[in-house]
Amino acid sequence: MKPINKEIEDLVFKSYLEEIMQKKKFLKMNRYIQHGTTTCLLHSVAVSYYSYRLCKLLKLNIHEKELIRGALLHDYFLYDWHAKYKPSRKEGFHGFIHPRIALFNARKDFKINHIEEDIIAKHMFPLTFYPPKYKESLIVCLVDKACSIYETFNKHAYIKMTNKVVDAKKERRIIGKRINLYN
Ligand SMILES: [Fe+2]
Ligand SMILES: [Fe+2]
Repeated sequence: MKPINKEIEDLVFKSYLEEIMQKKKFLKMNRYIQHGTTTCLLHSVAVSYYSYRLCKLLKLNIHEKELIRGALLHDYFLYDWHAKYKPSRKEGFHGFIHPRIALFNARKDFKINHIEEDIIAKHMFPLTFYPPKYKESLIVCLVDKACSIYETFNKHAYIKMTNKVVDAKKERRIIGKRINLYN
């Protein structure tokens, strides 16, 4: 792949990311840790970016907008899942029920379509009963697992990626705030 193509693809990714970041509530994900020292916000940006990159690498014919947006919102559950008291506590284990909570929040705050909904609802398969329906959902489901393992073992995950895809200084500061990488 020619580098120029990659630059254009990164611009496409950034435009969808910036659009979602307009919603202040989306940035709230930065308050919560996902794995290791990685916040839910950074985790979501990484899952979205690498899902997109993998599709490009495999030359898959995908719905780009849905893949990127669905992945950005896949963990939009908005609570600290490590805390003793959390909204999901009475309903069941976080791993099983957070896709439903993320879907509920995403439907409330964004206009999402059936592919984006499937990405969010099925990303924890096989913990979710039904398998991913679209190739976009399957890719996000796989990349989410790879990213989760990577984050668990890397203290400063995704520094290069953040510099590459998060343009606005302010947003970059917000994303890196929890791990004090950017000032
Ligand atoms: Fe998740
Ligand atoms: Fe995730």
